[in-house]
Amino acid sequence: MSLPKQTMITEVGPRDGLQNEKQPVPAATKIDLCRRLVEAGIRNLEATSFVSPKWVPQMADAPEVMAGIPRPQGVRVSVLTPNMKGFEGALASRADEAVIFPAASEAFSQRNLNCSIAESVERFTPVARAAQESGMRLRAVISVAFGCPYQGDVPISSVVDVVSRMRDLGADEIGIADTIGVGTAEQVKRVIEAAAKVYPIEQISGHFHDTYGQALTNIYACLQVGVARFDSSIAGLGGCPYAKGATGNVATEDVVYLLHGLGIETGLDLDKLVDAGQWISAFLGRKSHSRVGNALAAKRAAAEQAT
Ligand code: HMG
Ligand code: MG
Repeated sequence: MSLPKQTMITEVGPRDGLQNEKQPVPAATKIDLCRRLVEAGIRNLEATSFVSPKWVPQMADAPEVMAGIPRPQGVRVSVLTPNMKGFEGALASRADEAVIFPAASEAFSQRNLNCSIAESVERFTPVARAAQESGMRLRAVISVAFGCPYQGDVPISSVVDVVSRMRDLGADEIGIADTIGVGTAEQVKRVIEAAAKVYPIEQISGHFHDTYGQALTNIYACLQVGVARFDSSIAGLGGCPYAKGATGNVATEDVVYLLHGLGIETGLDLDKLVDAGQWISAFLGRKSHSRVGNALAAKRAAAEQAT
């Protein structure tokens, strides 16, 4: 079995992570977090969402965040765009990538986007066209691909159907997401292998929430079938406001530790990621959800005490 030699990490903490915080997080803090992530080597940064502020108040400051974050060459900044209004925000803020996010279940589509899957594809169609016309990269992330909080099981055929629709819209990358973190390794392989029959595996990414503690195992399962792109969230921040009880994404620090241990390149500086994760967790007044982050921070503290 050969694993990919390089991987691409998309850091989604500032968006997927902070969208779910109960306490308000000032734009300045979000900007500072993005700066720290870029300094740690993050080259794919999902910074914010241009969604309805009534639906997700934490992302209402998207224009301010986009105006304040560092934009060095080589850093691709992406934003969520559920419709043309969202895309206009993406364009005005010079985002590099628009992210559309259909669901694999009708029930979740209604809760998250207030419309059916077919209606969401209709709304995404002009977004896809506008992104292509303006030279913006287009990524699609398919929610609840391994289980839905409202419907329960999600047939693989439903996931493959949405993958095909996103391929037909011209998506440059398609993420397969475990919104509520229920998937297990063999299931993940089956879903990815089915998706790879209709869309190139090189352009598929994995997006795993860690609610049931399966995310790292599922990432390893993905690597075994050739997936080399993953979304992760610093300090394991996050969840989805429309998936109650779902915890954060797999922590970036934990994914990087796994990948480096496997000899897979990420281009990321684990120590700086740990700093960023500990910093934002301290700001939020809680312990980081990254096991690696906490272990390395404790090791450092012990070493400092010993000197
Ligand atoms: P709607 O209420 O059906 O929209 O919501 P509407 O078109 O009827 O418009 C209603 C109002 O919203 C209008 O304002 C619009 O202008 C405004 P009013 O006239 O009442 O003052 N509006 C907007 N404002 C700002 N930006 C926009 C926008 N669009 C409309 N883009 C809508 C439909 C899609 C807008 C809404 O359902 C929505 O914003 N949903 C987003 C929900 C969301 O962000 N969820 C979390 C992200 S997805 C996620 O976390 C999953 C993921 O991580 C993968 C995984 O883990 O599964 C990606
Ligand atoms: Mg998510």
